[in-house]
Amino acid sequence: MRILSGIQPSGKLHIGNYFGAMCQHLSLQAQNEGFYFIADYHALTSGPDPEQLRKNSLDVAMDYIALGLDTEKTVFWRQSDVPEVVEFAWILSCLTPMGLLQRCTSYKDKVAQGLSPTHGLFAYPVLQAADILIFNSDLVPVGADQKQHIEVTRDIAVKFNNTYGDILTVPEESILKSVAVVPGVDGRKMSKSYDNTIEIFEPENQVKKKIMRIVTDSTPVEDPKDPDKCNIFALLKLVASPEELSDWENKYRSGGTGYGTVKKRLVELMLDYFRPYRQKRKELEDDQDFVKKVLADGARKAGAVARETLDKVRKVTGLGA
Ligand code: ADP
Ligand code: TRP
Repeated sequence: MRILSGIQPSGKLHIGNYFGAMCQHLSLQAQNEGFYFIADYHALTSGPDPEQLRKNSLDVAMDYIALGLDTEKTVFWRQSDVPEVVEFAWILSCLTPMGLLQRCTSYKDKVAQGLSPTHGLFAYPVLQAADILIFNSDLVPVGADQKQHIEVTRDIAVKFNNTYGDILTVPEESILKSVAVVPGVDGRKMSKSYDNTIEIFEPENQVKKKIMRIVTDSTPVEDPKDPDKCNIFALLKLVASPEELSDWENKYRSGGTGYGTVKKRLVELMLDYFRPYRQKRKELEDDQDFVKKVLADGARKAGAVARETLDKVRKVTGLGA
């Protein structure tokens, strides 16, 4: 199967990105054909400054490679290095009903968060559909917040195929239920735009500080607590063994354990989990030529696939000679 996913370089990657999306990307690459990219055209919708955008893209690339992206097997590129996708997005725009985009919640959410209500932000799902469809993707692993965008992609693909003939593959999404929404330190969805993240590679003492600041209710130490309503427990689930987790669950329910104790253990487990990757991340920082070469190779391979689809699409839509 061809697996495709993108991640925006809109800031430093966090453990919500990792457990919600990247973890799946990395585990699917061995048995499948992985196509992963850094969605910098999409990041432009949140208006970062040019220097920052370029730096973030490289940071995301280093994070992925450090965390285990197979640079030999998986096609990995920066979205803007394969600009064919933008032409394709325009073609798809011309058959995307306004109503389909007006129903998308992410536009309203992002405007409510303070992003400019631009046409790019509104048309964001069409570019995402183009990303997915130009590479004939079968499966798109993402976090739960992307479900609607994959549904829009399917609708657009079906409309295109009904209009011009069966050319596009209609994709499925893959969302891991257990980690669909990783909470941030304030209890809302962890997100770069809420300033509530724990970054994958920030210094260990900062990870500790952030975990110790996680918001909880004010149940006294002696009282029983509900693990399912606790942000610390939600994060513990991601890194603790099943035995240890059920141990903590019992402690929550029987009372007598304070949140501070659980936080301290969470710090240890979280740091242990990512420690093996920190060294690799440092090495890549010192060998950026390697990272740039991986992206250039990826862009070449991805570009060849994109051009093949676009040629077919141009032909059936009556564009070009
Ligand atoms: P952010 O909200 O931090 O800007 P992105 O929108 O760039 O994150 O998301 C990149 C990928 O990570 C997407 O597949 C998204 O679903 C996933 N993701 C982001 N935040 C979370 C979270 N808190 N829990 C689970 N998955 C997440
Ligand atoms: N919209 C996605 C996000 O914010 C990023 C993205 C862009 C994407 N194009 C994609 C994800 C194609 C999957 C497939 O996370």
